Parts: sequence; C-alpha cells; structure tokens
Amino acid sequence: MEVLQAIKERRSYRSYLDRPVEEEKLQAVLEAGRWAPSVMNLQPWRFIVIKDQDIKDRLKKSCQETLQKIYQASGWGWVSRFSLEFLSQAPVIIAVTGDPQKTGADQFILETGRGYAFSCCAAVQNMHLIAHALGLGTLWFTLYENDKVKGILDIPKELDVVSMVVLGYPAGTAAQVKRKPLEEMVSVIG
Ligand SMILES: Cc1cc2nc3c(=O)[nH]c(=O)nc-3n(C[C@H](O)[C@H](O)[C@H](O)COP(=O)(O)O)c2cc1C
Repeated sequence: MEVLQAIKERRSYRSYLDRPVEEEKLQAVLEAGRWAPSVMNLQPWRFIVIKDQDIKDRLKKSCQETLQKIYQASGWGWVSRFSLEFLSQAPVIIAVTGDPQKTGADQFILETGRGYAFSCCAAVQNMHLIAHALGLGTLWFTLYENDKVKGILDIPKELDVVSMVVLGYPAGTAAQVKRKPLEEMVSVIG
C-alpha cells in the first residue's frame, strides 16, 4: 500500500469483531513501532501487549470511572454517552509506555522533557499505519488515568503510559471525518 494512501485511509474504529489478530500481524505492528524514529535513538518505549480478557475488563472499568470524572469536570454530553465496550471487545490492546528519563537534550531546557513522549507517539502512529495496511482497525486511546493503568498492568511508577493502541478487526464502518484544508494550517515564510 502506498504510504500516503495508508495515511489518508486509516480511520479510528470504536467497535471490533470477536476475531483474533494473527500472530504475524501483531508482530508486524510491533515491528513497525520498533522502527519509529526516537530522540537520540533512545527508543524510550516498552510495548505491553494485552490479550487477557480479565485485564481488558479491568481497564474498561477503570476508564469508565475516569470518564465519569471527565464528565463531571467538563459537562460534555458526548463523554456521558461514550461507550468503552471496545476495550473488552478488541482482541489486543497495546499500552505504549515511555521513560521520561530517556528524553534527550530537552531535559536541560524544559522542566519536563517531551522527547520521550514524541518518540512514543511516532511508534504509535507507525503501528496504526501498518495495522491499517494489514486490514486491521485501530484506535488511539488516551481516556485513562496513568496511575490506575499502571496499577492494573504492574508498570513501574517512573514510566509514563503515553497511549494505548486498540487493535482488532473492525465491526462496521468508521465514522467519516474530514480534515481542514491545507490553507488553514500552513503558513509559508520566505
Ligand atoms: C493523541 C490522541 C489521543 C486520542 N485519544 C482518543 C481517545 O481516548 N478515544 C477515542 O475514541 N479517540 C481518540 N483519539 C482518536 C481521535 O478522536 C481521531 O483520530 C480523530 O477523531 C480523527 O479521526 P480518524 O482517526 O478516524 O481520522 C485520539 C487521537 C490522538 C491523536
């Protein structure tokens, strides 16, 4: 698949079939993450592959509590209606954790370095793209509280759960979303 085609066609899926992801495809997704660029090539990530149903159910329950908090703070209607069923439904969730100590030169100019998180996000995007090219669906998921997820997954407290990649065969079609035109996001100097 052409890279630009994959970039444009990838969509977020919030509903998944009860169908496992083939091991070769899962390995390809992890491999795409491994080859992401990272600050000073520090590769500050760990990819935690979650297939266990009980753990997925516990994540869903924890995230439901988090959604409640977000709703109370924001009052946003969509938050109260947002279903987290996909966390139990999807066959695989990959938690991408990053080590804030492995953040490169920005630790000397920022209070909290960002290089480690940028690197993890590059890995996450690689995973989304290869998954799409392999006929899988994904969701970039961040509606969780770090401490709660670290407790459930037994992740050392010094690490940051940067994002989760929900992975599986999609059920149904994705919401059709648009992008703003380039003119609204580009300015040229010179
Ligand atoms: C940093 C980041 C965090 C996101 N977190 C969530 C999330 O927690 N839940 C969710 O349903 N979608 C999440 N998304 C997906 C976006 O909603 C989605 O990418 C956007 O609406 C555009 O749709 P598309 O991915 O189908 O092009 C996230 C995306 C990014 C880049």
